[in-house]
Amino acid sequence: MNIPTKNIVERVLVVGGSSGMGLALARQLLSEGAEVTIAGRSPAKLDEAGNSLGNPSSLRVAIADIASEAEVRRLFAETGRLDHIVSTAADIGGSYRLLPELDIAEARRVVASKFFGPLLLAKHGVPVLSNNGSITFTSGINAYRPAARGSVTAAMNGALASLVRALAVELGPIRINAVSPGWVDTPIWQHVAGDAKAATLDAMAARLPVGRIGQPEDIADAIRFLMRNGFVTGTVLHAEGGHRLV
Ligand SMILES: NC(=O)c1ccc[n+]([C@@H]2O[C@H](COP(=O)([O-])OP(=O)(O)OC[C@H]3O[C@@H](n4cnc5c(N)ncnc54)[C@H](OP(=O)(O)O)[C@@H]3O)[C@@H](O)[C@H]2O)c1
Repeated sequence: MNIPTKNIVERVLVVGGSSGMGLALARQLLSEGAEVTIAGRSPAKLDEAGNSLGNPSSLRVAIADIASEAEVRRLFAETGRLDHIVSTAADIGGSYRLLPELDIAEARRVVASKFFGPLLLAKHGVPVLSNNGSITFTSGINAYRPAARGSVTAAMNGALASLVRALAVELGPIRINAVSPGWVDTPIWQHVAGDAKAATLDAMAARLPVGRIGQPEDIADAIRFLMRNGFVTGTVLHAEGGHRLV
């Protein structure tokens, strides 16, 4: 049976809610009447996101770096009881490099934000989650269609697929899933492609069966499905315009 959402105010934490897919998700959830906490490291980005969401009374903002266990613990002390936890966080910084140029400190930032962060969110989030709640992480297409320079994120995206399977078994009845986006037009592309962002995304749009690049709202829709379908756990939902087929 699906979780009934009518007349119940959902409490949702969106780590990464200050940008891209997380921000789109926060906007959709707020429009549905949910109480949403957006979390991220940069107060300026959180301020800007709050303004773009209209700063409604149902929105809370939390400064937290999920690479830090102490900060994750403090984050849940601030949120209190939750129905759903979502992380779209990624700190890919300067990690998009061929191996000879790869700085391991940059690689560690990816691992901290995309793997240890989600692990800590599960560790400290479960005690505040309702029994029919869910946790959703964000994997990515390059685990399935890798390209040169993306080895570290590809590995972490792949690790998340295994993590949600293992945690689904350990943490049930709480459901743990991941969404795996294809190429989506968000600020993260500045790190991946710099000035070549528009040309890179246009070229991929022409290749994809759906004929376009993803929008943050496409992924937010997929995450809301994972949050609310009470019979889906340990799954990776691919929202990638057919990218794995080409
Ligand atoms: N866009 C794509 O084409 C694409 C494709 C495949 C997969 N993905 C994955 O999809 C997810 C969302 O990507 P996006 O494009 O929406 O990225 P984005 O626009 O760069 O947003 C990333 C968000 O994560 C937050 N964040 C980063 N590191 C954090 C940390 N250590 N602790 C707390 N918050 C942190 C950022 O805020 P602060 O910097 O202020 O902390 C920001 O709010 C990522 O996991 C990414 O790897 C994206």
